[in-house]
Amino acid sequence: MAIAWGTENNLDDTLFYNRKEDLKFLTNILDSSQYGSTPTILLTGIRGVGKTALMNKLKNDFKNEYLVIYMDLSLSDKYQKGEFTREAFMELLYKELINACNEFGLKTIDKKIEKYVKTHDIKLIKEIISYENMPVPIPGLKDNYSKLASFVMDLPQKIYEEYQDKLKGVFIFIDEFQIIKGLDEYNNFLWFLRSIVQSQKNVAYMFTGSMSIKDSLIEDIAGKNGAFGGRMLSVDISPFSYETTKLFERKSRFPRV
Ligand SMILES: Nc1ncnc2c1ncn2[C@@H]1O[C@H](COP(=O)(O)OP(=O)(O)OP(=O)(O)O)[C@@H](O)[C@H]1O
Ligand SMILES: [Mg+2]
Repeated sequence: MAIAWGTENNLDDTLFYNRKEDLKFLTNILDSSQYGSTPTILLTGIRGVGKTALMNKLKNDFKNEYLVIYMDLSLSDKYQKGEFTREAFMELLYKELINACNEFGLKTIDKKIEKYVKTHDIKLIKEIISYENMPVPIPGLKDNYSKLASFVMDLPQKIYEEYQDKLKGVFIFIDEFQIIKGLDEYNNFLWFLRSIVQSQKNVAYMFTGSMSIKDSLIEDIAGKNGAFGGRMLSVDISPFSYETTKLFERKSRFPRV
C-alpha cells in the first residue's frame, strides 16, 4: 500500500519522513560525482510511493554544493497543450537550468552563455528574458533542432567547467520521464540522451516518473538491450511498511517541538 498524506511534494525536513536507507545510498552515489564519476540513476516504484518527494529532498540536500536542475516534464507548456516534442524537452531543460543557476547565485551566467552562444557559430539569440533581473538569452533555434539540442545538452558540463571553484558537479533530475514515450521514435531520443550522458564527466542524471515495473519503458531505458543498459543504476523505492506508517502517524499527531 502506498501512502499519500497530501499533495505536497516539496516537503521540508520536518515533514520528510524516513527513507533513511534510500537516502544514504543515493546520497553516497550522487556525492561521488565530485570525483568525476557521475552516476545515471533510474528511480522506480509504484504510483504515489514517494519518488518525487525523494528527488526533492535530495535536491534540497545538495543544492548548496551542486547545481541541481529539477525538471518535471509534465510542466512543459507544450505537454499541457498536448504537443510534447523534442524541442519542448530542450526548452524546458534550458529554462530549469537557468532557474537553477539563478538559485545557486551564478551571477555571471548570462555573460558566459552569451559567449558560449557566439562560439557556437549560431546567431540564436531570439529574445532576452529576464530571471530576477538577470538577462538571459534564449536560443532561437526553432528551425534547427539538432543545434538546439546540442547547445542545451552540452551546457551543464560547460557550466561546471566555468564554475569548478564553486560547484562540485551538476545534477539533472528528470521527473515524469514517461512522458517521453509520447515522442515519435522515442527510442532514438533515449539513445541520443545516452550518448550525451556518457560524454559528461561531471553531470549526474536521475530519472523517475510513473511507470510500472512491467512498463516497456523501463526495459527500453535500463534493460539489457536498453539505451542505458548496464550503465544505469535502477533503484526501486518500496512502500513504507505497516510499522513505519504507524510510527509516522504517531509522530505527526504528537510533533516534537
Ligand atoms: N518520505 C516522505 N515523508 C512524508 N511524506 C511523503 C514522503 N514521501 C512521499 N510523501 C507524500 O506522499 C505523497 C506521494 O508522494 P510522491 O508524489 O512523491 O509519489 P510519487 O512516487 O512521485 O508518485 P507518482 O508515481 O504518482 O509520481 C505526497 O503527498 C508526498 O508528500
Ligand atoms: Mg512523482
